[in-house]
Amino acid sequence: MIYLGSDHAGYEMKGALKEYLNELNQEFVDLGVFTTDSMDYPDIAREVAEKISENPGTFGVLICGTGTGMAITANKLNGVRAASVVNETMAEMARRHNDANIMTLGARLIDVAMAKKLVKIFIETPFDAEERHQRRVDKITEIEKNRK
Ligand code: RB5
Repeated sequence: MIYLGSDHAGYEMKGALKEYLNELNQEFVDLGVFTTDSMDYPDIAREVAEKISENPGTFGVLICGTGTGMAITANKLNGVRAASVVNETMAEMARRHNDANIMTLGARLIDVAMAKKLVKIFIETPFDAEERHQRRVDKITEIEKNRK
């Protein structure tokens, strides 16, 4: 399952990605926004990140102007590893090495064709669960548990 969210800047790209996910027969839930009215990205980042935090094994895609605000916000939730991604290597490695479960995209940085490519790579690439990668991800979780 993929949870989608955007602010006003990412609204159009989110629409294009929904069509693409339908073509891929990939199940998704669109958590908004549903208009191009200006809104605050932390509100939607929080909503999507809560879903990922509560449902291990699911993915999120968050889109704003740059992807930055969405990533900063989403990473405040336990169990969330959000990666801001602008090219194919970043999308692949965020999964292989970091076990990222949210990808954030910048609608003002990349075009829709690239966004589709990145989403496909992200959802199809497994985590390389070798000891060193797992150990590093576990250290992130440890920091999260002891968060001040
Ligand atoms: C909105 O103008 C913009 O700040 C937002 O979409 C995002 O890029 C924040 O990180």
